Amino acid sequence: MTQTILKPSAKKALLIDGKAASAAVLERVAREAAILTVKPGLAVVLVGEDPASQVYVKSKGKAAHSCGFHSVQYDLPATTSESELIGLVRTLNADPAIHGILVQLPLPAGIDSSKVLETIAPEKDVDGFHPVNVGLLATGLAERALVPCTPAGAMLLIEEAAKALGRDISGAEAVIVGRSNIVGKPMAQLLLAKNATVTIAHSRTKDLPDVARRADILVAAVGRPEMIRGDWIKPGALVIDVGINRVPGVEPGKTRLVGDVALDEAIAVAGAITPVPGGVGPMTIAMLMANTFRAARLSLA
Ligand code: GUN
Repeated sequence: MTQTILKPSAKKALLIDGKAASAAVLERVAREAAILTVKPGLAVVLVGEDPASQVYVKSKGKAAHSCGFHSVQYDLPATTSESELIGLVRTLNADPAIHGILVQLPLPAGIDSSKVLETIAPEKDVDGFHPVNVGLLATGLAERALVPCTPAGAMLLIEEAAKALGRDISGAEAVIVGRSNIVGKPMAQLLLAKNATVTIAHSRTKDLPDVARRADILVAAVGRPEMIRGDWIKPGALVIDVGINRVPGVEPGKTRLVGDVALDEAIAVAGAITPVPGGVGPMTIAMLMANTFRAARLSLA
């Protein structure tokens, strides 16, 4: 990426433009896919009718088409059994036209998600949730792993912003609020791999605002609307807000999206911050396409 993704705001912090960064990733993936000898294939599996999942899955299919991929979607009823779902995953594992398999979470009650995710062939696990990929990342072998899309996208924004601001990630104090397998833990591994000093804070952390205030790089991934206030932020810090929370809007009956960080307060203190919407959100799908491209290329090796 040659152009900076940092945009001025009316207050102190620069805004990190995830839409621009995502568009750049998608453009590069489409360009590289066009000259690959195999068409990357992505299969997305949706079980049940969760409206938010339906929206996400639709955007994943759209992005796959925009990159010139072979894209298939399986819509299964909420009554699908665990063994039926595992059967479909096994079929996709064996399908040479499919390089990436994504089973949308959450799965209906009664289906053991970890059993399903562990059935996905690690080399087709474009979500990066399989224990083999988790283990490769944890042992410092990220170059051989498929890395979970949201933290991979957040890391790309951190690297771009740090470069534009002339900051080092190496030796920086990084605090991640949230310890999920999907974001918090892999985010910690990615920052550690870049030699940051990493703290994972969570709901039981004592004096959480004090811990957060130590951070040169603060990553919020808790799923609680605007929990992180302006006075939790070290002046000049790089703030990455992974939260996407729907809350009641100003007008009755309307809703709006907010992050885990109180943006209006944080923007007066931080050095640079990802807004919600338009920050980390758009990166997830872009990194899914990058992972699918990578899985297709590795299938040729
Ligand atoms: N549900 C919400 N985010 C994700 C994701 O990144 N991957 C999958 N498979 N399901 C999700």
